[in-house]
Amino acid sequence: MSEVQNFPTPMLSVRGLCKTFGGLKAVQDIDLDVNSGEVFGLIGPNGAGKTTCFNLITGFYTPTAGRVTFQGHDITGHSPYRIARRGLVRSFQKTNVLKALSVFENVLAGHYLSTRQTLLATFFPHAGVSRAEREARDSAARIVELMGLAARMDTPAFRLSCGELRLLEVAVALAAKPALLMLDEPAAGLNSQEAMRFGSILKSLRRSEVESIVLVEHNMSLVMEVCDRVMVMHFGSKLAEGRPEQVKNDPQVIEAYLGRARA
Ligand SMILES: Nc1ncnc2c1ncn2[C@@H]1O[C@H](COP(=O)(O)OP(=O)(O)OP(=O)(O)O)[C@@H](O)[C@H]1O
Ligand SMILES: [Mg+2]
Repeated sequence: MSEVQNFPTPMLSVRGLCKTFGGLKAVQDIDLDVNSGEVFGLIGPNGAGKTTCFNLITGFYTPTAGRVTFQGHDITGHSPYRIARRGLVRSFQKTNVLKALSVFENVLAGHYLSTRQTLLATFFPHAGVSRAEREARDSAARIVELMGLAARMDTPAFRLSCGELRLLEVAVALAAKPALLMLDEPAAGLNSQEAMRFGSILKSLRRSEVESIVLVEHNMSLVMEVCDRVMVMHFGSKLAEGRPEQVKNDPQVIEAYLGRARA
């Protein structure tokens, strides 16, 4: 069972979040709090509104209504770049990895994209490499090692296995030095053994690299293993919220989601 600590003020606070697309209410009146130190799971059937929530929280969509507060700052409607600079960084359901670049270059690019330093310097380092560039390279190498990809440091991303690619996607997000890391289906396509290894890496990140993680994931074993709390979405609304074992046994959740997954 995951250990839940006593959290004072939420790191991320969402109130009354709504998004409509034409006549479709994709996200309806969502409240959620993510506390410092926890892994928060966001689950629900396909089309429930999970990715839309990510897009609203991280500035890729503007909410129809509602407020998003991160570390005490109202970030509603801010640009994704500005939000990432505050330390709220997300991965994408579709890969953000550049297939022709090596593992190391991808992580370094993640760093420069988040800091807006010159990307050219990443790939064409001139004679006088600055201290900032050296530090970025050291940091990228450390993250690659942390994610268990040291042996693949110089391998082009297109040569990676599915499992390695998933680890690289997290590494690219980590390069932006997030306080809160939001991962959208990071274990998609992994077998159960790979997913469990991935889960233990995520748990170790929470202790060493990031304060909190929000995880959207369809792999229920992984969610149950790594999350301190879970929120279930269904048709854009919140259906349930609680500890993983509570949510797993909620009849409404079984009907809406877990039941469907078992079918
Ligand atoms: N840009 C958009 N324009 C119109 N409709 C959208 C847009 N983005 C999402 N939707 C719709 O909003 C609803 C929620 O989609 P969303 O991608 O958030 O679901 P999800 O929970 O992430 O699903 P999945 O598990 O399949 O990734 C869906 O009906 C989807 O078709
Ligand atoms: Mg999605």
